[in-house]
Amino acid sequence: MSSLKAAGMREPRAGSSKKLIRTLRGRTDAVPPIWMMRQAGRYLPEYRQIRARTGSFLDLCYSPELACEVTLQPIRRYGFDAAILFADILLVPHALGQNVEFREGEGPVLEKIADGRALAALSMGGLHEVLAPVYETVSRVREGLDGETALIGFCGAPWTVATYMVGGRGSSDQKEARLAAYGEAWFPSLIDLLVEASAEYLCAQIEAGAEVVQIFDTWAGNLAASEFERWCVTPVADLVSRVKARYRDVPVIGFPRGCGSGYAAFAELTGVDGVGLDSAVDPAWAARSIDRSVVLQGNLDPLAVVAGGRALRDGVAAIESAFAGRAHVFNLGHGLVPETPPEHVAEVVELVRSGAGG
Ligand code: CP3
Repeated sequence: MSSLKAAGMREPRAGSSKKLIRTLRGRTDAVPPIWMMRQAGRYLPEYRQIRARTGSFLDLCYSPELACEVTLQPIRRYGFDAAILFADILLVPHALGQNVEFREGEGPVLEKIADGRALAALSMGGLHEVLAPVYETVSRVREGLDGETALIGFCGAPWTVATYMVGGRGSSDQKEARLAAYGEAWFPSLIDLLVEASAEYLCAQIEAGAEVVQIFDTWAGNLAASEFERWCVTPVADLVSRVKARYRDVPVIGFPRGCGSGYAAFAELTGVDGVGLDSAVDPAWAARSIDRSVVLQGNLDPLAVVAGGRALRDGVAAIESAFAGRAHVFNLGHGLVPETPPEHVAEVVELVRSGAGG
């Protein structure tokens, strides 16, 4: 950590006036803070323009100037309450020494970790050196934000990152990682390594200026009920406690996508301040079943934003009324998709800010 800029005073103070931070500390507002997962990305023409000028997607993630610009694009357009660092969850495996490529039209392709030897070849040694441009992006974004917009840092949860490391690419069922989790002696060590690396990564983002962090467990929902605690809840709890040991006051949001009734255990056992709900979760169930000490984030269907019109308006209204009276961060149930009309995003922001649903 010694190579990092000493920025210890950047941690948000207990009295931060940023709306997202106040909400994550439990304050209920008539109008919730709003941001959207994948708010920077291909649905924005200004993103596509920058993307066309950069070589690979990894080059964009490791260019502080361009990554900062892309992070700020949706803030300029919509005035969201938070910016989320532009990066990717697969930078951690890359920084551990795994071969990671993003191929046009194919998504990420990694050299598979299929045995103990491949795992032993990974190392924490170069982590901060490889990720230093990301920390530089965080500092630049923080400098570019006003006093009201919070900066969210993030990482993938150990389970989700492991599914890509073991499977070598995205898949709909994460078969290879699920099998490895059942039978391979090296699999728990991979999860332990990811907990350690991700904690280091999040703490360095906080040191550079991130004020909130989110842990994306995109593939939590494909774990069998019997495996959920072992591979989702426990590693996330471990990660949260390591971050909180160093930055007690920085709010942490967990997003265990698709985990259904597992949300209750996740909220109770991981130590997160907020949970991101996917769109399949009934907001009224969540408001009833998840303890009020945990702030709820979500959960408009990204496809309702594509559809627009009535689907969009009814979706916003249902969420606002289900969460009225408790601390809530307005978001989607998953990321914005490339075919989203940018003006539909503006409409969601206007509806939420005008208090249309609540
Ligand atoms: O939310 C944001 O605006 C911040 C940026 C961000 C990206 N990826 C940029 C990105 C964040 C938070 C992520 C997280 C991420 N990356 C997750 C977890 C959240 C989720 O969406 O489920 C996962 C599983 C990944 C891995 C990943 N990255 C995949 C499977 C792909 C290919 C699929 C796709 O959408 O293209 C990516 C590429 C990626 N990450 C893009 C962006 C904008 C598209 C690449 C491009 O522009 O060429």
